[in-house]
Amino acid sequence: MGYDIKQLKIEAKQEIERADDLKQMDLVYKKYLGKKGKIAEVFSFIKKATPVEKKILGKEVNIAKQELEKMFAEKKKDKERQLIDLAISKEKIDITRTGDKPKHGRLHPITQVQRECEDIFQSMGFEVVLGPEVDSEWYNFDALNVPKDHPARDMQDTFWLKQKISENSKNNFLPRTQTSAVQVRYMEKNNPPIKIIVPGRVFRNEATDASHETQFNQIEGLMVGEDVSAANFKAIMQEFLKRFFKTDIEIRLRPGYFPFTEPSFEMDARQKGGDWLELMGAGMVHPNVFKAAGYNAKGLQGFAFGVGLERLAMVKYKVDDARLFYQNDLRFLKQF
Ligand code: PHE
Repeated sequence: MGYDIKQLKIEAKQEIERADDLKQMDLVYKKYLGKKGKIAEVFSFIKKATPVEKKILGKEVNIAKQELEKMFAEKKKDKERQLIDLAISKEKIDITRTGDKPKHGRLHPITQVQRECEDIFQSMGFEVVLGPEVDSEWYNFDALNVPKDHPARDMQDTFWLKQKISENSKNNFLPRTQTSAVQVRYMEKNNPPIKIIVPGRVFRNEATDASHETQFNQIEGLMVGEDVSAANFKAIMQEFLKRFFKTDIEIRLRPGYFPFTEPSFEMDARQKGGDWLELMGAGMVHPNVFKAAGYNAKGLQGFAFGVGLERLAMVKYKVDDARLFYQNDLRFLKQF
């Protein structure tokens, strides 16, 4: 018989060892373990062999087949692992590269300013109160001592609602032109002492430019008590501005005119050495406003003020065009 299984095994093992890629290994596999390979050849020989040969050779070739199969499987596994390692090593991961941060929203600068003001006034004992954005002519004008057909009503160009809110209403309605509309609304339901601020949107029918929008935000302040004075107003404003601008601020009151305050002031403010900037309207609450609220005005005094949030934000952040706050340009908004 012409089969030296030992030799066959040695040769096969050498070839398996030498094969250094999967393709070569395939060829070697076919050569020894394929259907027409050398091991198969021995098996077909065995079929025709004598019983003694069958017995000896059969056992030997079976063992050889198992050993070679095992060797192949292991080497194939190794080869595949090497290929994966190679692919990984070629794939560069730059761990120093910054990832893409998820974009998240933030509060609008005007909202931030509003909240800051609320915090400061709340810490000084003021309550934050809200009122309706659409209000009656009564609360927005009449109750505030703005007589009908008086030119003062034109100080604030008003959007009027065409429809009356209810048929039997004697009132015209309007998107409020000032948060002052909440003064009498609040005083009707609450007795002095009063210390409130009212943030909110107001609306004016005017052409827009760098400092005028048809919609903007105000904070109204109202403090009413037995002997609330202009000096109290100045002191509270001084404290508010110092905390809001985070620096000492000088203020001055100039005479102004509002129908609902007497006397009325325009309040200017400046940083040490800076220019005076007109910041808000204010004054001592007019007795007619107390009357409209149903108060007995005797012995009652109060101050009121109204400040534009956009104005405060513009001064604080040195923004020279109020329209920027409403263009929603992320490059602008991200700065706050
Ligand atoms: N409501 C006034 C305005 O919008 C501001 C103001 C409020 C003035 C309170 C005096 C007192 O211009």
